[in-house]
Amino acid sequence: MIRSVIILSLFIFAGSSLIVTVDAHDGATGIVKQRMDRFSESKQQLKQIQAALGAQDFKTIATAATSIRDWARVMPDYFPEGSGEAPSKASPRIWESFDSFVNEAKAHEIAADALILAAQSEQQDETINAFKQLAQTCSSCHKAFRQ
Ligand code: HEC
Repeated sequence: MIRSVIILSLFIFAGSSLIVTVDAHDGATGIVKQRMDRFSESKQQLKQIQAALGAQDFKTIATAATSIRDWARVMPDYFPEGSGEAPSKASPRIWESFDSFVNEAKAHEIAADALILAAQSEQQDETINAFKQLAQTCSSCHKAFRQ
């Protein structure tokens, strides 16, 4: 029963990501397309982590959090000046205050590192908290820097 619920939700996630990918990437090329792809992967990885939390599959959580962390480390390099034109949803504020954007990416990286550590310690409560905090760093940056 539990297993079929998990399989079902993975199936739904896989389907919805396909729709998002087709819609959001409309016409994007080059570095804009590359960063959109990386963000779509992050979204998938968050969902993977969420499902793995239910199953207490700490290894999957640590692996997915590591991918998110690695992306966070290079994220600012994917936002060169002048890359905010449509279809990008990047806010012009990124280039008006690039230092704050870099700080948001750094906070995201630190939160991902905390999740990796929590998952490695196999402490369920700590891992859930670290997951929530990581997800907050996504929303926080989107609020400030995504249109
Ligand atoms: C440091 C800032 C920052 C962080 C942290 C961040 N994002 Fe984003 N995200 C953006 C910006 C800016 C865009 C818009 C990119 C564009 O359209 O050029 C974006 C776009 C996206 C998109 C749309 C991609 C597409 O196909 O158009 C998704 C999905 C997304 N982010 C998910 C996430 C998730 C999930 C996390 C956390 C695990 C996260 N983001 C963390 C800044 C951030």
